[in-house]
Parts: sequence; C-alpha cells; structure tokens
Amino acid sequence: MSGNSKKRQVVPFIYSAERPVFIEGATSRQADPLNSLLALIFRLTGFNARAYRDSTLKRRLELRLQATRCRKIKEYLAYIKNHPEEAFIFKENLLIHVTRFFRDRPVFTYFEQRLLPGWLNQLMASKRRRIRIWSVGCASGQEPFTLAMILHRPATERGLHPLILATDISPQVLDKAREALYSASELRYVPRHYRQIYFTEIKPKLFRLTPELRQLVNFRQHDLLQDKAPGKFDLIVCRNLLIFFRPEAQSLLLKKLIQSLNEGGLLLLGRSERINLDSSLELVSSRFCFYRKMTNSKRRKSFFG
Ligand SMILES: C[S@@+](CC[C@H](N)C(=O)[O-])C[C@H]1O[C@@H](n2cnc3c(N)ncnc32)[C@H](O)[C@@H]1O
Repeated sequence: MSGNSKKRQVVPFIYSAERPVFIEGATSRQADPLNSLLALIFRLTGFNARAYRDSTLKRRLELRLQATRCRKIKEYLAYIKNHPEEAFIFKENLLIHVTRFFRDRPVFTYFEQRLLPGWLNQLMASKRRRIRIWSVGCASGQEPFTLAMILHRPATERGLHPLILATDISPQVLDKAREALYSASELRYVPRHYRQIYFTEIKPKLFRLTPELRQLVNFRQHDLLQDKAPGKFDLIVCRNLLIFFRPEAQSLLLKKLIQSLNEGGLLLLGRSERINLDSSLELVSSRFCFYRKMTNSKRRKSFFG
C-alpha cells in the first residue's frame, strides 16, 4: 500500500470517537446520524468534516438542511445519496473564506518594522538566497500578497528571493487568488504607498497586482488535515484557520506546522489562536502571536540547563 493511500485511510478515524453531538434531535445515546453524514461526505469528497468544531458544523448544517428542505439529518443523508453533488456544496459551505489585505494591521506593522530587518539580515548571514514562506489557508490570496508586498523590496535589496507557497483546501478561492484581481473596496486596506506601486487599474475600480509581485506567490490546493506538508519553510503564516478545528485536530496540525519549519524559522498564528509553548518553540511576541522554532543547541540548553 502506498504511503498516500495509507494516510487517507487512517486520518478520518482519528475523529470518529463516540462523542456527544450537539445537533437538535440527536443525543449521544441515539444512533448518530451526524456521524453517518460525515462519513458519507468523506467517502464522496475526501473531506474530513469531523475535525471541525461542533459549533461550526451545526450552524452550517442547519443552513444546508433549510436550503435542501430536509427536516432531519436522516432526510439530508438520503438527499445526498440521490444528489451526490450536495456533498461538495456541504464541504464548501463549511469553509469560511473571510480575509482581507493587511488583516489585523498592527501584526503586519510589527513584522515589517520590528522583525523583518533582523530576520532578513540573519538569513543573509547564513548565505541563503531563497526565503521559503508558506501561507496556509490563504483563501483568495490577500494574505500571501500582503506578505509579498512587505517582503519584495527589503528582500531584493539584500539579494534575497522570497518564494511564497500559498495553499487552501478550496479550489474556488484559489481560482480567484490566481487571478489577482481585486475591487477598489478590497483594496481599501492596502496602505496607499503599496497600492500605488503594486496595483494597476485595468478597468474602472478593478485592479490587478503587478507581475513582479504575482510571480513571488505560487498557489496550490492542499488539505492541511490530510496532505503531507509541502516542504520546509523559514516562515509559516497560518491565521484564522486553526480556530475552526477541534482541540485534538488543532494539536495535530500544530505539530505538522512546527515540523515544517526550518530551525530558527518563524510561525505566525492568528491573534485568537495563542498556543502553549512546547519544547521546540520560543515566543517572539505574545501580543502579535509570533513564535520561533528553536535550534537544536538552544533546545538542549533549555532541557539541561
Ligand atoms: C477564515 S479563512 C483565513 C484566510 C487568511 N488566512 C486570513 O487570516 O485572512 C480560512 C481558510 O482556511 C481554509 N481551510 C479550511 N479548512 C482547511 C484545510 N483543512 N486545509 C487547508 N485550508 C483549509 C478555508 O478554505 C479558508 O479559505
């Protein structure tokens, strides 16, 4: 059996433990129609909805029940068996794609003004030329393009080349991200000096990011729950994604992110996603949720000294 098929078989059952399901009409004692529904969704789409929080599942499921005029989960199960495309609609509806440029601006100001110069100098000193960055759950591209705007000049001036891999589970948002076309209202969060340098108005109130920035970002479909991490990175930005998962899934995903960081690499999480430090991470800023993966020698010191 290939590594890949093995992984696909094992992961979904991590979340299959019997647990109370907070959907009206279902109690932990009844046979659990929600579990059957999530298993069917997984079979049809490969999407592991069990890892998402009950509160999100419940809200989104209620909306789909209304839209398909099903009164109970059992009816909805039957509906999906007759209309398998509904499984994909359920999946897409569970994903929340809210994003914007410079989301939570003080975080990016801190990064740009306080962290970036020292971090780039450090990378230069290590004779590295490429900086590898992973924007996880990138939605329609505003987050990786924000990073590209901030990094482009200071990195180029130092002879460094940033490569940003931006991933999301949803092919729909990735299509929008690849176009790099944004409305005037989406651009209102971009600082004016960046707007002037990096966007061209191609139609009234429709702007495209310049090719020099677009070429820094590579978009790829990737399911953080099920797919292998796409390599090792100097900076991983994973904001407003972990919050949607159950705590057990959050810890597994966090481990995956830490394993994908180079030693000394930075991890940026969303401000509502603070974590307990493990032995491999040190805090860079608790206010802005930046962490650093410790080098082996530093880790040895903190274990023994
Ligand atoms: C709320 S958006 C956050 C966007 C951006 N990081 C930000 O903070 O503005 C969360 C994104 O995570 C994606 N997502 C949800 N589950 C995922 C998974 N299992 N693997 C990869 N991406 C996922 C969603 O499709 C959505 O686009």
